[in-house]
Amino acid sequence: KKVVLAYSGGLDTSIILKWLQTEYNAEVVTFTADLGQGEELAPAKEKALKLGIKPENIFIDDLREEFVRDFVFPMFRANTVYEGQYLLGTSIARPLISKRQIEIARMVGADAVCHGATGKGNDQVRFELGYYALEPDIRVVAPWREWDFKSREALLEFAEKHQIPISKDKRGEAPFSVDANLLHSSSEGKVLEDPAVEAPEFVHQRTIAPEDAPDTPTIITIAYEKGDPVAIDGEALSPAALLTKLNQLGHDNGVGRLDMVENRFIGMKSRGVYETPGGTIMLAAHRGMESITLDRGAMHLKDELMPKYASLIYNGFWFSPEREMLQAAIDHSQQKVSGTVRVKLYKGNVTIIGRESPNSLYDQDLVTFEEGVQAYDHKDAEGFIKLNALRLRVLAKRDGQKG
Ligand code: ARG
Ligand code: SIN
Repeated sequence: KKVVLAYSGGLDTSIILKWLQTEYNAEVVTFTADLGQGEELAPAKEKALKLGIKPENIFIDDLREEFVRDFVFPMFRANTVYEGQYLLGTSIARPLISKRQIEIARMVGADAVCHGATGKGNDQVRFELGYYALEPDIRVVAPWREWDFKSREALLEFAEKHQIPISKDKRGEAPFSVDANLLHSSSEGKVLEDPAVEAPEFVHQRTIAPEDAPDTPTIITIAYEKGDPVAIDGEALSPAALLTKLNQLGHDNGVGRLDMVENRFIGMKSRGVYETPGGTIMLAAHRGMESITLDRGAMHLKDELMPKYASLIYNGFWFSPEREMLQAAIDHSQQKVSGTVRVKLYKGNVTIIGRESPNSLYDQDLVTFEEGVQAYDHKDAEGFIKLNALRLRVLAKRDGQKG
């Protein structure tokens, strides 16, 4: 048996690694991805070697550019948020991990893949829907649903027995569960479990508090091409470099914090604290760009489709025909979404203060309060309003006056 394990190098996936070797009798191949989580990958390799993984069975991939270019940017073209707020930082990374894991499984001739998500969350669904969509007959090993460790204690005992190093802070229970990548950091559980209690400051890892942000605003210009950001203050940047830079700017201005209770796909509510500094800037900036380049009909239709598109990503259906259909429509709408947006960052706020585009639909002559255009005749508005009012008048006559 040969299994490709999505391996972070952390305690839990190290235990899973050992468990696969000793209880599952499998040859383990580890896959560790750099998605911009801000951790060195070398230690994961060292650890895998120490746990007896052959060098040729250790895969370490820098997926940052692919992540931002092929997953984050397409999602942001739709101004995507789940339940009005969540920018889907964890959800959007899962399909890429699944995809690469399946590629590796094919390469090494493995018949199974394994992940470290629990049996209570969204991530198990996302990983596994990805696996099955790409490799219908793959075998999936989900240790958290299979092994019979009854407690964290039992897990740690197993780790100790197999000489898996346990850092001091893990000896009690981990303070909370974190998932991070270039787009966001999420924190859930433990000190965050009571939704009535404010998250302690130490939970935040990649933004300063708005209260501590500078008293002078930061102003930047972001250039867009066909719906994707391509430059900051005139400097052209690769997708990952651009998001990295926005993350820094967001961090410094306390931008992108979110505390929310959301509905998991499996049916329970959960409370999470999210930090999406660069993404929060991109969301506002993209809307700013669309505000002058998109027609109203296209914009409003996009806004109607968005919640459906967001749910598909949240629920793990990235590799589905309906997500691809929506993506095609969204991408088509972005043809003219090019130009520049000026953005002010100030104490947690992102304010659009200017927009320009060669494709602008904004017509100053048309909208001006000053006199003087031919294209618009004020008199036309009278008939427009009268016809729109017709059914309201008929109703009022039948039902009597209101108010
Ligand atoms: N609730 C978020 C989501 O479902 C974050 C999940 C975090 N995952 C984790 N393994 N810590 O997208
Ligand atoms: C997990 O259960 O592994 C993390 C939380 C989630 O997937 O929703």
